[in-house]
Amino acid sequence: MATKKTQIITLVCNKGGVGRSTTAINIAWSLASSKCNVLVCDLDAQANTSSSLAKNYQEDVIEDGRHVTNLLKSAGDSAIDYIVDTRNPNIKLLSSTLMLDSTEGEIKSLLDLNVFKLFDHFFNKKLKTDFDFIIIDTPPQKSSVLTLNALLTSNWYWYVLSAEDQWSLDARIVSEKIMEDVRKLNPKIKPLPVLMTKFVNGSSHSIEMKKIAASEFKAGVFKTTIGYSTVVSKSHSNRKSIHEFNPGHLIEKNYDSVALAINRYISKTKKTR
Ligand SMILES: Nc1ncnc2c1ncn2[C@@H]1O[C@H](COP(=O)(O)OP(=O)(O)O)[C@@H](O)[C@H]1O
Ligand SMILES: [Mg+2]
Repeated sequence: MATKKTQIITLVCNKGGVGRSTTAINIAWSLASSKCNVLVCDLDAQANTSSSLAKNYQEDVIEDGRHVTNLLKSAGDSAIDYIVDTRNPNIKLLSSTLMLDSTEGEIKSLLDLNVFKLFDHFFNKKLKTDFDFIIIDTPPQKSSVLTLNALLTSNWYWYVLSAEDQWSLDARIVSEKIMEDVRKLNPKIKPLPVLMTKFVNGSSHSIEMKKIAASEFKAGVFKTTIGYSTVVSKSHSNRKSIHEFNPGHLIEKNYDSVALAINRYISKTKKTR
């Protein structure tokens, strides 16, 4: 199942609330249950992904200081020294903290100087040998230097659209502009098919959004969508993945099937290259 080379996937959408963090958490669990080793890297200062995934957020991240802010402020350490455990042995976490926004401001000038492939350095060979996938969760701000740096290191960018939210579709115009610049510096980056989340079965709006996305996005959309369910917010309140909170739930099955589709898509794309 595991693809040989580490595949780095950055989640994108310049619109908050579309389901990126939910996807980062649950796709990691789905990939892990298909025997892949996954590193989740959280670049959003809201740190929702981190607090849901970390085994001991308070001890390992806050007290021990193993998080992205300290990695960024380090003198060029490898991310390997900053990753923490999750409750799943196949998933590790490079955590965010609430102070990441101010850190980004503080180190912006430094980042600008080193804007080219900062994360290539952090995700060095030593770290990559441990992981089949690195999933990077991002903040919605289009100007995030961290997101830009993540994209410069990634093999794939992955749009997440909320099926009932027209504005998430509208946001693609800004994202496409950013991707034009990214491609100049990272020509190897490719789009994965778009993921539609919060898909309401039988809703003409959800169906229409999927049709538009299929025609407007270069890589199309994944056939499997993530359904709308209150189990998602309940799992967040309990700081758990769906796999832990409600095993066997339809949303877990949706994410499992998307994980299979990602593995298939990546293998197929490699063969046709
Ligand atoms: N499939 C879903 N069904 C119902 N609610 C969802 C689903 N996915 C996400 N949500 C809810 O949408 C909100 C935003 O999700 P989140 O993953 O934080 O988005 P983002 O990271 O893009 O801002 C959260 O309140 C979450 O519980
Ligand atoms: Mg988020």
